[in-house]
Amino acid sequence: MTVREALSERHSVRRYADTPLPEETVMDLLWAANGISRENGRRTAPSAVNAQDILLYVCREDGVYRYDPVAASLELVTRTDIRPMMEAHNHFIYTVPLTILLVSDQTRFEPRPNNRNRDFAFMDAGMVSENISLYCTSLGLGTVCCAPPMDLDAIRAALGLTGQQIPVLYHPVGYPAE
Ligand SMILES: Cc1cc2nc3c(=O)[nH]c(=O)nc-3n(C[C@H](O)[C@H](O)[C@H](O)COP(=O)(O)O)c2cc1C
Repeated sequence: MTVREALSERHSVRRYADTPLPEETVMDLLWAANGISRENGRRTAPSAVNAQDILLYVCREDGVYRYDPVAASLELVTRTDIRPMMEAHNHFIYTVPLTILLVSDQTRFEPRPNNRNRDFAFMDAGMVSENISLYCTSLGLGTVCCAPPMDLDAIRAALGLTGQQIPVLYHPVGYPAE
């Protein structure tokens, strides 16, 4: 599929088939989202001042795993199912094999006035979000960008995050229902 075709076919998917995702597909998707693409360590997604602040967490019924872009691997963070803390009205997140949560690590930035680093967090997450959407489309996977009001305190407690780490948005990923 060309980028033009992926752009043309991308749409929000909220109804999913009960089909698991192959492990290799998951790792490819995480790389496409914000993996290391060059020898200088830079990423598939741009980031403000090259802060590389967006962390990826794979949220499943059996727990949460953090993507390590250097090792291109997943590390278990918790056996807690945090989906109820993120769901809001997006009940379809219980029907997908996994949901990718994007967290901006604000400690990656030098201090800036006027909440500028928080603005960068939202912009940087948007870049990763579109990578996810287009790559899913190219693989025949469904997704939807979701940024509802989340229970940030509960998510931070479950994942061991500080107030400097902002859960911004998430992407449920699965095969679309027919
Ligand atoms: C920042 C952002 C937040 C969104 N939050 C949600 C959400 O919480 N739940 C949902 O079902 N869709 C959410 N969406 C998806 C939009 O509703 C969707 O992109 C829009 O209706 C256009 O449809 P399309 O993606 O099929 O073009 C969000 C999209 C963006 C960009």
